[in-house]
Formats: sequence, C-alpha cells, structure tokens
Amino acid sequence: MVWHATKVTRQDRERLLGQRGVVLWFTGLPSSGKSTLANEVAYMLHQRGHLAYILDGDNIRHGLNEDLGFSPEDREENIRRIGEVANLFADAGVIAITAFISPYRRDRDRVRRLVGEGRFIEVYMNCPVEVCERRDPKGLYTKAKKGEIPEFTGVSAPYEPPEDPEIELRTDRMSVEECAEKVVEYLEREKIIRPL
Ligand code: ADX
Repeated sequence: MVWHATKVTRQDRERLLGQRGVVLWFTGLPSSGKSTLANEVAYMLHQRGHLAYILDGDNIRHGLNEDLGFSPEDREENIRRIGEVANLFADAGVIAITAFISPYRRDRDRVRRLVGEGRFIEVYMNCPVEVCERRDPKGLYTKAKKGEIPEFTGVSAPYEPPEDPEIELRTDRMSVEECAEKVVEYLEREKIIRPL
C-alpha cells in the first residue's frame, strides 16, 4: 500500500493554527474526574485561542463504538479505535483530548507508540477508589457493588495505573481549575501552545 504524501503538511497546519497537534490522554478510574477536567482544559485552551477537541467515553460509546462492551477484548478495541481517531486529530494539528478509563497499560502504550513520543501526553487522574465511590455521580459504583454491573472498573475489573505518566494529578487534593492549569502549564512549557 502506498501512503500518499499531501501537498499541505502537518507542519503547515500547525503553523496555521499556532500550536502542535498532540494527544492529551486522560486515564483513571470511573469518577476520577476525566470528563470534567477534559472540559475545563478544552475551555481554557479555547479562551487562549487554541483548537482542542474532546473525545469522551460516554459519547464515543454511543456512536463509533456502540458495538463494544466492557470485556477486556472490547476495551482493547475501544482504545485502539480511539487511539487511531485521536492520532488523526493530532495530525490535523488539533489538540485531541481523550477521556476514557483505558484501564490496561498495554492498550495505552500501543496508542503511545502510534502517536509517537512527544505527541502523546498521558495524564493520570490519580484518585483513591474510596473517593471515586463517594463521588459516584452516575450511581454506578453502587450498582456495581450490588452486582448489577459486571466487570466494573475499580470494583470487579482491574485498573492498571500508568508507570511513568507525563502528568499526574491528585484530583482529590486539587480543584478542577488547579488541575487544568497544571495541564495548560505543561503544554506551554513543552511549546505545544503559545505563551500568554
Ligand atoms: S474503557 O474501559 O473502555 O476505557 P470507557 O471510558 O470507554 O471505558 O467507558 C466508561 C464509561 O462506561 C463509564 O463512565 C460508565 O459510565 C460506563 N460503564 C458501563 N459499564 C461499565 C463497566 N463495566 N466498567 C466501567 N465503565 C462502565
């Protein structure tokens, strides 16, 4: 198969947008704050004149991945497809923000290899499971504990924390704004976005 080179390159698109196309990969237990933080970061970036786009667990599972469940194999395929899509967004010059539990290290590392070092930014939402259980905005931990949701991450299915994430956030100790600022600072430091 021949990979066609395009006349307009990724560098051209990045210059146009004044940013580097990257994947900000949020990972963590259910209710660790992934979607909330993804939203806050996207908002801050937008305010600063940057283009970001969120791919979120609950939305993608209603569309692109509606055929997938929560077995280890289905989660692997879920993350594989999302990785491919996020990589296309990054190639378009966009800051792709993903908010998926992505519980398996191997699946995340595969996306890291696809996107490439320097462009894959793993953000570990570190929050004790007891705190996540207490938050439980969708009441899923309660249901899972009653046995109503099989293979629920944090209760009856594993979560493998990243070993060397680019960013680690204790979401039980910092506010959403503080966490988002840390992410935006990182992007600035790494020259992915313009300084203010
Ligand atoms: S992942 O493990 O494949 O990365 P993903 O982030 O797409 O999961 O989806 C997680 C969302 O699906 C949760 O926020 C929750 O609303 C819902 N969900 C339903 N069943 C489960 C389950 N068994 N384990 C985890 N999340 C579940």
